[in-house]
Formats: sequence, C-alpha cells, structure tokens
Amino acid sequence: MAEDGYRLWLRYDRVESRETRSDYRGAVEAIVVQTPTGEASPTIDALKAELARGLDGLIGRDPTVHLVAGETRDDLGADGYALTNVTVDGDDAVRITANSDAGALYGAFALLRKMQLRESLDALDEVSVPKIDRRLLNHWDNLNRFVERGYAGFSLWEWNYLPDILSPRYTDYARALASVGLNGTVVTNVNANALVLTPEYLTKVKALADVFRPWGIRIYLTARFSAPMEIGGLETADPLDPAVQAWWDAKVAEIYEHIPDFGGFLVKANSEGQPGPWEYGRDHADGANLLAKPLAAAGRDGIVMWRAFVYAFEDTTDRVKQAYNQFVPLDGKFADNVLVQIKNGPLDFMPREAFSPLFGATPQTNQMVELQITQEYLGASIQLAYLGTMWEEVLDQDTYVAGEGSTIGKVVDGSLFNHPVSAIAGVANTGDDRNWTGHPLAQANWYAYGRLAWDHELGARDIATEWTGLTFDADEEASTQIVDLLMGSRETVVNYSMPLGLHHIMERGHHYGPGPWVTGGRADWTSPYYHQADEVGLGANRIASGTNAIEQYAPELQEQWGQLANVPDELLLWFHHVPWDYEMRSGRTLWNELALRYQQGVDEVRAMRATWADLRGGIDEERWDAVRQRLALQEKDAIEWRDACLLYFQQFSQRPLPEGVEAPA
Ligand code: GCU
Repeated sequence: MAEDGYRLWLRYDRVESRETRSDYRGAVEAIVVQTPTGEASPTIDALKAELARGLDGLIGRDPTVHLVAGETRDDLGADGYALTNVTVDGDDAVRITANSDAGALYGAFALLRKMQLRESLDALDEVSVPKIDRRLLNHWDNLNRFVERGYAGFSLWEWNYLPDILSPRYTDYARALASVGLNGTVVTNVNANALVLTPEYLTKVKALADVFRPWGIRIYLTARFSAPMEIGGLETADPLDPAVQAWWDAKVAEIYEHIPDFGGFLVKANSEGQPGPWEYGRDHADGANLLAKPLAAAGRDGIVMWRAFVYAFEDTTDRVKQAYNQFVPLDGKFADNVLVQIKNGPLDFMPREAFSPLFGATPQTNQMVELQITQEYLGASIQLAYLGTMWEEVLDQDTYVAGEGSTIGKVVDGSLFNHPVSAIAGVANTGDDRNWTGHPLAQANWYAYGRLAWDHELGARDIATEWTGLTFDADEEASTQIVDLLMGSRETVVNYSMPLGLHHIMERGHHYGPGPWVTGGRADWTSPYYHQADEVGLGANRIASGTNAIEQYAPELQEQWGQLANVPDELLLWFHHVPWDYEMRSGRTLWNELALRYQQGVDEVRAMRATWADLRGGIDEERWDAVRQRLALQEKDAIEWRDACLLYFQQFSQRPLPEGVEAPA
C-alpha cells in the first residue's frame, strides 16, 4: 500500500525483529478483558476487532480474547484501564481491567500502542485514567461539506448520502478517536445551521451516532439559537418564553429518540453575527439554561457547552476584555450541566497569546477549554506547526486564582473547584484528504490533542516521540530528527509571523499571510488596533495607562506581566506599547530585536528544510516528499511575513534593518 498516511498512527506493520516478535507472541497468547459484567457488547466487539487487526498486523496472530467479570476498581474511574500480566491455562496473557467497556477499549489501544512502539510487555503494571470526562473534537463543518477554517479537503460527513450510505471512513475516524481516548464529537459548525435539528437531518445524525457508539464516541450538535423560529415556526427565540422552552423540550426528546446517548449542545451565541439571548434582553445564562433544562430532565448526562468566544465589535472596550466582563457577573447562574467553553486565549487562537483571564474567574461555573487543532493562524496545514508545545504551555499555565498551582489544566479537569463535570474541546483539523489532515505531520496535532485531553500533564516531547514512533518506520536518529523538528516548529511560526507578543496582524479573510496594514469596516479589524505601531514604538498598551486588560489577571501575573522589567519577551507587545529604542534583555533595541526575530524565523525554516533533506531514505519517500514540498513553500511564506512586516513597521520606526537581517526581496 502506498504510504499516503491514511492509516494515521494505527499502522500495525509487522514487527520485524524476530526476537521481539516472538516475545510478543509469547506474551499475548491470550488476552483477558475484565469488566464488572464480563459481558459482550458492541464495544467489546469493537475491541476484539481492533485487537485482531492489530495483532494480525504486528505479529501475525489472531488472539483469543477471554471476557471475565471482576470487581469494580475505584482507582480506574469510569474510563480508565489497567494492564497486567496473567496466565491462562498455563499460557502467558495480558489482562486489561476496566470499569466500563470503553475503558477496556482504551486499554486495548494502549496495549497495541506499546507493541507498535516495541515496548516490553514483561512485568506490565500500568494504570491510566483520564483526568477530563468529556474529550471532544469540534468540527467546524457545514452541511454542504465546506469546512470553515478547514485545510484538508471537504467534511468527512457525507450528508447527502446519509443515512443510507455509510462511508467506511466513519469507522476509521471513530477508531482514531478512541485510540487516543477521545469520547465525543460535535459534528457541525459553531456557525450553526438549524437544519441539522430537523427530522430529516436527525436520521442522518443517528446513522453517524450508530457507527461511532461502539467506539465509545458520543455525538453532540451545535444548536442555532434561533432554531425555534427558523425550523419551528415560532415568532421568537426568547429563552424565557414558555413556547420557546416547550419547543426545545420537545426537540431534545426527539433527539433522544434517535440518539439515546446524545451528548448535548455546543452553542455560539451573540458573537460574530450569531443569534442569541441578547436579542431579547436576556443573558448568556438564560440562553444556556434554556437548552440545559430538558437535557438535565432526561437524566442522561447531556450537557450544554456555551462558548465564551463573544465580543461585540461595536463595543469600544478592548476586545480581549469583553468575554471576562460578560461572564464573570454571571457566575453561579448557569445550570449544573452547562460548561462555559473558553478559547485558550482571550483573542482568537493566535500563534501565541496570553491565556484567557476567564479561566478560574468563575469558580461556581463549569469551565472547559477550546483548543484549535486546525491551523487557522499557524499556516493552514501548509506550514509545519506542531501544537503540542503550545497546548502544554497553555495547560500548565498558572492562573493563580486559588493560589500557586492553579493551572488551566486543573481548572479544566474540574479539580481546582471540585466541579462534577469536566470537558475539553479541540477544533478538528480533519477533512476528506486521503491523509486526513493535509500536511502529513499535522496528524501529530490531532494525536497530541487526544493524548493531552486524556492527560493534560503529558509532555509535548513525549507525545511527539510516541507519535513519530507510531507513524514512521524510522531509526532512532531519524526519529529524533523528526521530533526535534516538531518541537521547534511552533516557535518558528511565532518568530516569522507574530514575534514578541504581536498578534492579529494577518491578512483578513484567509488568515494565512501577513496584513498588519489591514483596515476594514470594524474598529478591531482596523490597523493599528492590535499592534499600535506609531513613531514612538510598538505594541498594545494593556496596563493601567492603556486598556488595563491586565487587571483581569491575578495579582501575581499583574506583577509579572504588567511591569516592563518583568514581562517575558514572548508577551512583551501583548501587554505593552514599547519604544523602538527600548533596550531588551538581549541588549538590543526593540526594533533590532524584532527584525532579528523575523529573520530567525526564516533561518529556522531553512534549517528545517536542511534537516528534512537529510532525512531522505530515513522514512518512506512519499511522505518525505510531501513534507519536502510544504517546507519549501513555508520558506517562501516565512520570507513574505518577514519582509512585509518589517517594511510595514519600518515606516513607523524609521530605523535601518540591523546587521544579519536580509534586505527585503
Ligand atoms: C474565528 C474564525 C471563525 C470562527 C470563529 C469562532 O473568528 O475565524 O471562522 O467562526 O473564530 O470560533 O467562532
């Protein structure tokens, strides 16, 4: 088979070393699956099918799977698993213990992962439990199959063929999710179309849900707030109107008839033109509770994920302050099955931004994080940007809201404020390209997201190493080269596009290339809203003398970030308007440092190209060449970013480019 990347990290190619192969054969003569019931189920069938596929590929064996009943284990939670060695009729076997069929399935994938990575199965003693309950992908997929901010082809969901024709890809998609422990998917765009809630579409959604269910994947839908008017014939969508409540109650009941394990709704309201409760003088809590009520009443765990990506461009308040201002006063008003879904940053998935100060700021409200796997502002699956490093930075970030150690990871997993329900969302980078993600190495982002959703304390390098081992037949040296490349790649994009805390200076519309000069229509899209370049200097003043966005953070962070002397270079221009001749930590002036960062970004892309050239023969030619071509384009793009931004900012700085920076082409 051509190495087109279709198999993702689930390749299961034959273990070549004879010794390892026979070790593995010896160790898995049988596999024991222990759950509280010990009974068969569609999920257990899926587990068996995956073990059969995996072990046939890896060692040419069809394993015997013994189902046994055993006591519930408190340490494994709902979805966790344990792997241990046992003997069955004198033969060595591996036992997967779990409290649920889904947990057992995750254990089976973990076992296969170990074998793919050639890890020893001797003295197995592994317990793994996810820290977050709902581990979701969000698809920004429209019903016409256009994917908003999608760079890997059309939507995977063939709405026109559903429910009659089921692409085999749906199963492979579900396997991929389950293999990293993801357990839910929102299949429709946040810019929602109410049509998906009509009876016709619900039968299609049901068909997808039926395919996903055995793999432990629950389906969720985006709910357009004005749906009662658009498809229900009502004259209002006012959340406090009893007829509107009755409409949603009936709609939820209808959805449950089709999809008994329906996960719930994701809602974008009163943001970027989407309808919402504000139209009726109501607030976000009124809106969210409207949908949460029938879900809770049904007693099936349904949740509402209400997005905090809200801002009004008519509002002259600094855009990054608006979500906090809107949501903090509502703390305590949201129903228990509502989670406020917050993008990692207060602006919009920039290559780097300060974290959203809303995290931890509403202790009585369930909060979840939304990360963006698709590379909207990081090169659109043409450029290489491994995002594991970015998400590690986000999840490990200390908010200090309840003292030191109040990391975003702990806010999101619910442990900081003892919340009963926790969730995480990643905006998918998938499409119908053969390799799923466009750039072959962008698969690593899907993988890394899933692994971090399971355990936000995993390290980005460990995940990259794991993914590389699963994805390529590379020797140790080549693997290390790939991992190093991945690890540096996000910072490289930051350097050549938005270094030192610059943000939102991309071209409007496509968001792919530079556009610090962009003006148009709205205050926040009109230069210099974000970069504030002038003859004095550069950067957004968000301390007390400016918009004072800094006041939304804990005192510890105000101290670190609000003072020029303390703020790290990475966030300098996010919080401060800095004179061109300001002396940086490096001893250089701001202008020179800025110019050299852009140059460094270009140089790093060149270095990546050289590394990749060197790798030829170390991995299969097909994927090697696909990446080679993309890196070549990335160099051109990086040069464009550098030249465009430096020429633009030079109009204000009126200073020459320092030595070491190439003159613009
Ligand atoms: C960004 C993105 C939009 C998207 C929006 C959102 O602004 O460009 O395409 O709809 O985020 O997250 O709602």
